[in-house]
Amino acid sequence: MGSLAAGNDLIVEAEELLAALKSQQPLTRESRAALLRQVDKLRCGLQGPADAMRFQGTFNMFTAAMNALVEHRVFDLVPLDGTIGLNELASKIGWEPTVLARFVNVVLIQGIFEEPEPRVYKHSASSTAFRDDALRSYYRIGVPSWWKVSDYLKTHAPEDVYDPLKSPFSYACGAEGKTYYQLLEEDPAFSDVWHKGMAQAAPFNPVLGMFPFRDMKEAVETAPDRAFVVDVGGGRGNAMIDMMQECGGSFGAPMVLQDMKEVLEGEDPVRIEGIEVMPHDFHNEQPVKNAHIYYLRKVMHNYYDDKCRAILRPIVEAMGPDSRLLIGDLILPESARPGNDVLPFCSDLRMLMIGGTERSEAQWKQLLESAGLVIVKIWRLPGAPHEATIETRLRGN
Ligand SMILES: C[S@@+](CC[C@H](N)C(=O)[O-])C[C@H]1O[C@@H](n2cnc3c(N)ncnc32)[C@H](O)[C@@H]1O
Repeated sequence: MGSLAAGNDLIVEAEELLAALKSQQPLTRESRAALLRQVDKLRCGLQGPADAMRFQGTFNMFTAAMNALVEHRVFDLVPLDGTIGLNELASKIGWEPTVLARFVNVVLIQGIFEEPEPRVYKHSASSTAFRDDALRSYYRIGVPSWWKVSDYLKTHAPEDVYDPLKSPFSYACGAEGKTYYQLLEEDPAFSDVWHKGMAQAAPFNPVLGMFPFRDMKEAVETAPDRAFVVDVGGGRGNAMIDMMQECGGSFGAPMVLQDMKEVLEGEDPVRIEGIEVMPHDFHNEQPVKNAHIYYLRKVMHNYYDDKCRAILRPIVEAMGPDSRLLIGDLILPESARPGNDVLPFCSDLRMLMIGGTERSEAQWKQLLESAGLVIVKIWRLPGAPHEATIETRLRGN
């Protein structure tokens, strides 16, 4: 930065941003996200080395402040309508008022809460998001473990990241020897946060809008004895509900939801009309043969290739000549630049924490071919092309 040419580039970008802002009213979720990426790009272009240092150096405090305010229910205690004084808010959470003010000041700068008069707070549009249990669960998943990853890298052999029993997350929890999902299911509070967080993420990782499930009507109605969809590692069935909405039902064929027994038959058993709930460990033989569709969403990215092949093998063995395996996962863009969507790269780092990885298109092709599958088509989400459903079939069919 600093040269006249770079300054001119920035002016052009700022003018493009302004033009986009004017032409895209009213903003949609997608256009707002695209504009925010342009703002990030502009900020990156504008900052000098010291600005970059200051920005990065203050970010961790922002996270710490947000985490403390979320954990201490401050977002719930500020009323949705009206205001609350600092002293009253502090007395509700048992903090010293000046301490609370120091945390709130940091987040106010980021548009979280408003301070219409000194020491009086109200919600801003952004801060209301953190009143929602599911939204803040998404925010909080794994927050404390991030601070341990650097120590992990100091204390572990480079190949340890590939072992899910030695993941940075397991290390951060002091529980090496257990996988992320074992730890999740052992801790009801964490499990609750996680499942709510996943449900919140649904609009950003949609099931629909890529592979056209409704186009399966004729094939499924012709052979309704075969399951329409077997959702392997399907969690609490959110994806199946979406598919049935798109199709107006299941075309008369079974819909089978599989996951670990603890997930499906735990404290809050999953019961969804029209869906058969089937506890099943995906490492074992797939009991449902020759389904029209096997579906694996956000499962493969939890593992490196060897483990993925172990999960794919029983599905491949159960598939018939015209069965499809659909994989709902990210396709990692080839490069990361200012102005790109950061989510796929953050998701990749999140997967590193738990013993998995996101994959580029080339990596997907390699993995799936090594499991005896061919990619028929990659259905990308318009507006967020890293979101995809990969349609595969058995090789040779
Ligand atoms: C990231 S979640 C994805 C859930 C769901 N497919 C979705 O898209 O919302 C991964 C799922 O794999 C399940 N899972 C983990 N290990 C499993 C196993 N051995 N057998 C079956 N399911 C398993 C987890 O319980 C979890 O629901």
